[in-house]
Amino acid sequence: MNNLAKKYDLQVPRYTSYPTAPQFTDAVDADRYGEWLGGLADDVPVSLYFHIPFCDTLCWFCACYTKIVNRYQPIADYLETLLIELKLTAERMEGRHRVQHLHWGGGSPTLLRPDDWRRMMDAIGDDFDIAASAEIAVELDPRDTTEDYVRALAAGGVNRVSIGVQDFHAQVQEAVNRIQPFEVTRRVVGWLRDHGIDAVNMDLLYGLPHQTEARILDMVDKAVSMEPQRLALFGYAHVPWMKTHQRLIDEDALPGADERWRQAEAAAERLVELGYVRIGFDHFAKPDDSLAKSLANRTLRRNFQGYTADAAGALIGLGASAIGMLPEGYVQNIAPLKDYTRALEAGRLATARGAQFTPEDNLRREVIERILCDMEVDLNELCARHGSDIAAFTKSLAALEPYIADGICEVTGGTIRVADASRPFSRLIAAAFDAYLQPGAKRHARAV
Ligand SMILES: C[S@@+](CC[C@H](N)C(=O)[O-])C[C@H]1O[C@@H](n2cnc3c(N)ncnc32)[C@H](O)[C@@H]1O
Ligand code: SF4
Repeated sequence: MNNLAKKYDLQVPRYTSYPTAPQFTDAVDADRYGEWLGGLADDVPVSLYFHIPFCDTLCWFCACYTKIVNRYQPIADYLETLLIELKLTAERMEGRHRVQHLHWGGGSPTLLRPDDWRRMMDAIGDDFDIAASAEIAVELDPRDTTEDYVRALAAGGVNRVSIGVQDFHAQVQEAVNRIQPFEVTRRVVGWLRDHGIDAVNMDLLYGLPHQTEARILDMVDKAVSMEPQRLALFGYAHVPWMKTHQRLIDEDALPGADERWRQAEAAAERLVELGYVRIGFDHFAKPDDSLAKSLANRTLRRNFQGYTADAAGALIGLGASAIGMLPEGYVQNIAPLKDYTRALEAGRLATARGAQFTPEDNLRREVIERILCDMEVDLNELCARHGSDIAAFTKSLAALEPYIADGICEVTGGTIRVADASRPFSRLIAAAFDAYLQPGAKRHARAV
């Protein structure tokens, strides 16, 4: 497989949406979004995503939308705007909606003061019914997490956290400007468990400068010693043409395509040996975790946060740059903080762009999602359900020929299966069904 990693060292999207964000246009504006919100039947449960675009130090590898701040005032001001957005959004919707998933991401939501965190949760409860069984998740940077903060999270009903770990090795941490000793992470995990938050996810990266296969295995063992329920093992996306601060990373110290492949596979094998279920192309979960259960019953989904067990019909994104999904399509908020704030202070939703689904988008979206979730898709079944014909995929199936010849996938009777050892290539298989992708466009990160 190593030589295939070199051969197929292509750049393709991660498909956390289809159509992908570069296809979004301003044809979807605040008015359109307002109509979509208004059309959502009040018995449709929703998921809420809040984006906190602030951090106190910059990790050089970071591809998230965030801004470095060293004072609290910009965060306090931002929360006021977020409260306006929450009210305006709720006003556009009919009735009170039930929330079954609530996710705080960033940036670093851990920069919020505990009192502000409580105030935000109360405000959400004013306009939405947070289900007793709701999953309330927060992305957590252990470097600025205190026990007081963990206490506030637990009191606010948080029952899942995703901890940013990346790697434990000192040389790797230095090379990406993220100093986070093992002990710092372990202490936070201890507080979480002490306060009853047992569902702990960890984010790990491979493909960082100075990482080797041996160091990756050590990283995995250290992470597993804290018994996370889930692990995300992301391939470092080096996209300096989009994230210019990544130029601070020494490219000579980055592993090449074949080494990245070996790192990903070594980590995956070790995690499976240690009892984790492999989920899609970059996640692992304990068998009793909801992600593994949704994989088993074929309800695993992919959204802007990656793999998810969240099956809600509507995801409402709040905050600068946040992306949401309604039955009609995707919407993305304005990213620059000033413009985002100005829109909301003027009483307008802060929608910048989006994509309205065509029937063909809906069909291809499902094909791509099933490939990336199940590593398998039955095109005949899907076409029948969407009132389409498999002939719509003639070009896509032809594009699979080289992958079939190399044993990466097989196609029998309209069913495509990605070989287990070829999971890291699944994005390439999915890309064959992307009607918008321009071959050779240097827009995305490496496939593996
Ligand atoms: C918003 S951050 C997590 C929370 C918090 N900011 C932290 O870093 O601890 C989400 C995750 O995205 C991943 N990430 C960030 N930049 C990345 C990149 N260039 N390639 C792949 N993954 C990346 C990291 O694993 C990170 O933990
Ligand atoms: S990885 Fe997390 S902490 Fe680091 S800059 Fe990005 S969002 Fe901030």
